[in-house]
Order: sequence, then structure tokens, then C-alpha cells
Amino acid sequence: QLMCEVGTGNGGSIGGISWLPASLSKLLIKGGTVVNAHRQERGYVYVEDGIIVAVKPNIKVGDEVMVLDATGMPRGIDPHTHLDAEFMGTVAVDDFFSGQAAALAGGTTMHIDFVHPVNGSLMSGFEAYEKKASKSCMDYGFHMVIRHWDESVSKEMEIMVKENGINSFKFFMVYKGTFMVDDKVLLRGMKRCKSLGALAMVHAENGDAVFEGQKRMIELGITVPEGHALSRPPMLEAEATMRAIRLASFMNTPLYVVHVMCIDAMEEIAKARKTGEPVVSGLVLDDSKLWDPDFITAAKYVMSPPIRESGHNKALQAALSTGVLHLVGTGHCTFSSSQKAFGIDDFRKIPNGVNGKMQKRFLYFNFLLDPQHSYIHTRKQVCTHIELKQHMSFQTIFVSICCHVSVTCSARIFNIYPRKGAILVGSDADIIIFNELRNKSKISSFENQYECIRSFEQFLIQSVQPFYLDQYISRFSIDLINSIDQSSHVSRTLGKVEVTISRGRIVWKDDELKVAPGSGKYIPMPPFGFLFDGIEKTDAKLISSFKAPVHRFKSDV
Ligand code: URP
Ligand code: ZN
Ligand code: ZN
Repeated sequence: QLMCEVGTGNGGSIGGISWLPASLSKLLIKGGTVVNAHRQERGYVYVEDGIIVAVKPNIKVGDEVMVLDATGMPRGIDPHTHLDAEFMGTVAVDDFFSGQAAALAGGTTMHIDFVHPVNGSLMSGFEAYEKKASKSCMDYGFHMVIRHWDESVSKEMEIMVKENGINSFKFFMVYKGTFMVDDKVLLRGMKRCKSLGALAMVHAENGDAVFEGQKRMIELGITVPEGHALSRPPMLEAEATMRAIRLASFMNTPLYVVHVMCIDAMEEIAKARKTGEPVVSGLVLDDSKLWDPDFITAAKYVMSPPIRESGHNKALQAALSTGVLHLVGTGHCTFSSSQKAFGIDDFRKIPNGVNGKMQKRFLYFNFLLDPQHSYIHTRKQVCTHIELKQHMSFQTIFVSICCHVSVTCSARIFNIYPRKGAILVGSDADIIIFNELRNKSKISSFENQYECIRSFEQFLIQSVQPFYLDQYISRFSIDLINSIDQSSHVSRTLGKVEVTISRGRIVWKDDELKVAPGSGKYIPMPPFGFLFDGIEKTDAKLISSFKAPVHRFKSDV
């Protein structure tokens, strides 16, 4: 069996990261299990010019075609990143090359970042982000942030949707004095989103109350990072979540709540059946590190809404596993220790965002890993439950849920399925080749590690096939959590993403980046995704329910 070498022509390096360009127009992935959300099958995947042309049990090709041996899985979309973001008086350290390079290493092939308006103009903001993203080596899309309201914003929203490929707008209900919008703006924005078929997204925390809570902390003399968590408890996230849900329901438009961090907010989403996105940090961490006496250690964990006390993470995992929450983002927004140190005397000045600090290439942790992790934690409850109830094997459930959450769901919500999010004929060839057997012998060395590692051990011992473990451990645990000793875990890999393929190009192989800055592509996202299905009907129902008493009144007269 042939495993071809890739990488021809001149490579280069940027920010300490090297790459080797690889261009291939014809590619066959053979001998693997093709894993989609809807099913798994043994098969060959044939790609031409970046598009999947055939998925069949056997395909014969000529010498001009590159052949890889593999198990292929479709790769997904990180729906929530802040690369090169200007925020709280500074700029996030990962840019559109370094962040993306690391994401490709972890097997993510597309992300959606948040464009901020410039001087109130959405168009200027879009252009600024086009510039930032010109060094991209990965496919990307944009959400747009709405920070104020006037006629020109309303008009520009239409341009963004109809001409610029944006189908989602984020409203911050917090960060008073900078990003925060009030209910009036939120309502107008939701109404406009609805008319354009765009998704309204909210960062849900009560900004006025958070402001008050922060003041209270400072008055009490609490200036250290734990003041961050104490000043904005779950009830403030829940209140804003509930309010946004009610307003969206009143406008009868879909709502997407970003970075759901607590049980209270999750329950509001569950009741209303709106779309909820937990982020990796909320799923796997707890707030204990915020109480670390070392400022830099604690400040690393400052993000908003805050990482909650233990228990919330498990509940969010369960909600994700059972479909109450829908997809996972990273919320990737990294700051260096010196940037975090802006808040050494006042937690309010610590730039908010989960942080990494090791090699640049590993700063970006891969959200695709964490649905698995969440299932691992909740494996017993969820899978035993499903196995008993539905007589499905855990393996089937595991793969289908993972694929569903991390890949297909994102693509569907942002209306780019099946171009992205599936290994189907006509889809972009965004595929990872995963070797689950690699380093399998190291299973037994998982003893006496931190909780997340122990969870993996349980997971393995309970004989489930391990997916993505190496990335979880080498990229996420080490770089985000940082409390885990690096060298002892890097080698504890079990299974490995050997190749990441984006639009038919090998972009990561042999632990090397194979694509150059500028090779990433902007992916426009069309409006009126499936979340809008049925909106017209419910509108019509609502209107007819308004008419009934009016008619009665008229006839009475
Ligand atoms: O703490 C966070 N989440 N930082 C990024 C900005 C945001 O609120 O999404
Ligand atoms: Zn946010
Ligand atoms: Zn964010």
C-alpha cells in the first residue's frame, strides 16, 4: 500500500512556524472507515480539485493520483474564535496564521471569527478583518458584532448578508461602556436579523449588574482574579439568557447563545429550545484555578462568562451529549502573561479570554476534541442510558454524536452543509486521517494523572475506541490547562490525526504544516438556514390570533 510523500516547491516560515506547500488536484483515500454523522462505512474517497467526487467501496486510479491509506472523518467548524482581536485595550496574541496553523494541526479545517465594526461602520470592520485574514492558511467565515443602532447599521447589515456572506450577528449584553447593547438595540437587531434570515447571537450576561458586582468587589477590597467570578455569578448569565430568549421569542426569530457557561443558563435554553453553544473551557474546567494565589496562574482562567465551579461543567457536558446544547466552540481568545498582568491590581483590567502559553503552534486547542471529552465524562450516564434504551452500541453512539456535534451541526446551523461537515459526493474534501492504533501500547500509563486524564483512562478501560486523544492531551490539556506537566503527557498519545486535508489539500502531515499563509479561503455563509424553517408559519399563526378579537369586536359593533 502506498503512502505518498507530499510537499513540493519552496516552503517558508512565519512566527516560528514553518510550512511546506503541497498542491494536489487528485487524491484517493483508501482502506479506511468513512465516518459521517449519519453512518460509518468502509470505503474509498476520491477527490478532485478539492471536491469529493466519489465515496465507494473500491475505486481504482492511475499513477497520477496521490493515494493515502486511512480512516477518514469529515472535519468541522469552530464556530467561535477571536483571532487578532482588539479587546480590552490590547490585541489577542493568536492571529489568522498562528491560530489557524495550530487549529489545522488539531484537525479543524474551518473557523468562524467575530468581526467588529470600525468607527461604527460594519463595512470598514469587514474590510479590516479581510486584511487581518489575508494571511489565513485555513478556511474561515465571519460573524459580525453589532455595537450600536442607527439607519446605516441596519442598511449595512443587509449588505453584509446579501453581498458579504455573513449570516450571523452577535450582540453583547455585557461589557458596559464598550460593546454592551441595551434591550432596545437588541430588539431592533433581532428584528433586522429576522428580516434578513440571519442568526442573532448573544453574549448573555446582565451588563449593568456585572458592573455593579465589580464595583462591589472593589469596595470590599477584592482586586484579585477571583473577584472576576464573584462579581458575575451564574444568576446574571441566566437572567440575560432568559431575557434574550424571551425577546427572540417575542420577535419570533432564532437565537444562538454563545459560550453557555452555567447550568442556570443552559436550563433556560433547554426550556425554550433555542440554540446553545458551550465552549471547551466551560465543559472541561472549573473555577478552582481562579483562587490560585499566583496572579498569572489565576488570570489565565479569566474569561466571560466566568468558568464556573465544578458541577456546571459536568451538567454542560450532559446537555451537549443529549442535544440540549448543540455545538461546541473554543471561544479562542488568547492573551500573554504580560497582557493578563494589566489587571494585577484590578481584576477588571485582566483581558478576558482563555489563555495558552506554550509553543505558539499549540496555543489553539481543538474544539473537535471536546465533545468526545464531554462524552467521556458523562459516558456512563449517557451511553448506558442510550444503550439500554435504544440497543445501540456505544461505539455507534459515540461516533455519531461526536460527528454530529462537532462537524455536521456547525455546518447546518451556519448553512454551509453539506458543502462542509460531511464526506459526501460534492462536499469540500475536508477530511482527517485518523490512526486510532498509533501508540496504543501506552494505554496503561494513564494512572495517577489529573482528573481529565483519569477520565480518559476510564474511558479506555471501558473499551471504547479512542478518538482524538493525542490532540486532547498534547494540545488542549497541556496548553490550556497548563497545570498538567507537559513532558509527561505529550508522549501519552493514543491514536493520532496523521493527516489533515482541507479542500483536497494536505495541510498537516508528519507534524508539519504544509500550507502557506494566504492559502485559506473565505467561506460565505448564506442566510435563511434551517433554524428559520417554520418561522413564517408561526408568524402567520400569531397574526391570525391577533385578528380574531378584532373581528369579533367589529361584528359586535
Ligand atoms: O472572555 C471572553 N469570552 N473573551 C472573548 C470575548 C467574548 O466575550 O467573547
Ligand atoms: Zn462573548
Ligand atoms: Zn467570544
